[in-house]
Amino acid sequence: MATTFDQIKGFVFDLDGVITDTSLYHTKAWRQLAEKLGVTWTKTLEDGLKGISRMDSLEMILKAGNIQDKYTQDEKVALATEKNTNYVNEIKKMTPANILPGIKAFLDDLRANGYLIALASASKNGPTVLTQLKLTDYFPKVVDPASLSKGKPDPEIYIRGAELLGLAPEACVGVEDAAAGIEAINAANEVSVGVGDATTLADADVRFDDTAQMTLANIKAAMG
Ligand code: G6P
Ligand code: MG
Repeated sequence: MATTFDQIKGFVFDLDGVITDTSLYHTKAWRQLAEKLGVTWTKTLEDGLKGISRMDSLEMILKAGNIQDKYTQDEKVALATEKNTNYVNEIKKMTPANILPGIKAFLDDLRANGYLIALASASKNGPTVLTQLKLTDYFPKVVDPASLSKGKPDPEIYIRGAELLGLAPEACVGVEDAAAGIEAINAANEVSVGVGDATTLADADVRFDDTAQMTLANIKAAMG
């Protein structure tokens, strides 16, 4: 981590599992589909799916069940659509109460201190979730995942996030709950902040057990 705290000018956020608890809904919807297809659900599969795009997630599930050659492309699209329909039904019930602890205060603190903020979520439902949470105004810059050629762990999404802010990657902190996301941030040369399990997020520059501990003061202290 070559960057010092004083060089940081912007924050690029993952959404699911960082801003809100939607990772639970993604997991529930994928698990339902996997079990219907006869694929055994494991914690390793569950963690590996976090941060991964919709079609790549489906491929991972099929591979885990050794049925990657069973479906045509059209059938795969139909399966992914089925998962998404179940997921969208869940997020439509969301309210600002679903914002994870401390996140609103953290965003307010970032804004008050002049930091630029962008969203780098692989989810095509990201803008809908922000609307449900009434957080759209906090994220004037949102990377469009449909415009990317590669998903996380490729750094493209985090590089694009910095570009949208008009900043060098080195002037940005990226915030993630998934191993694939931390890998993407590190490869983009941003400072990686992980929220969650120490083993999963072993490669994060800075890590917190939960979102309530993720404050500007704590990040500054951890970066030295
Ligand atoms: C995020 C989530 C993943 C999800 C992906 C695509 O990265 O962490 O669990 O699969 O977005 O989401 P979408 O809403 O486009 O299917
Ligand atoms: Mg996430």
